[in-house]
Amino acid sequence: MRKAICPGSFDPVTNGHLDVIERAAAQFDEVIVAILTNPRKSPLFTAAERLEMLEDSLRHLPNVRAVHAEGLLVELARREGARAIVKGLRPIQDFEYEWQMGMVNRELDSAVETFFLMSSKEYSYLSSSIVRELAAHHAKLEGLVPPGVERRLRERCGS
Ligand code: PNS
Repeated sequence: MRKAICPGSFDPVTNGHLDVIERAAAQFDEVIVAILTNPRKSPLFTAAERLEMLEDSLRHLPNVRAVHAEGLLVELARREGARAIVKGLRPIQDFEYEWQMGMVNRELDSAVETFFLMSSKEYSYLSSSIVRELAAHHAKLEGLVPPGVERRLRERCGS
């Protein structure tokens, strides 16, 4: 059984994340989408809210499940018996940070391999922070996030 973990903050999940998760699900037997803590970020949504939005958005993928976990990503990988981490890579801006994280994770556990999927070109500019900013300004979000996520953002931002 080839298991992969797609980790992230998912604050909230975007169509760019879903594109990467769907492509990972086509390559691995099981994909675990994991909400973990990024100490550099202060999330808009609680972990429980982010998990609900992920679960709603992943229903069409039978070999994918979402979890929330504390601690290190490689510890979760070990607990889940996953030997692959899959992350999306957008042009330029992601590379330095993702490369550093990949190297740290390899130092922590060399049995866990990091795979990068190039973001699809229609989502290469998309990020959760852009989506949150658009929602704060009541701008349209169509095509950027799943409908349930758009509804939550509108509620949270009063738009
Ligand atoms: O979507 P993000 O914010 O880029 O995801 C980053 C995340 C949450 C995957 C990363 O911060 C993470 O792996 N956090 C868990 C703690 C950990 O394992 N850190 C790496 C070694 S310092």
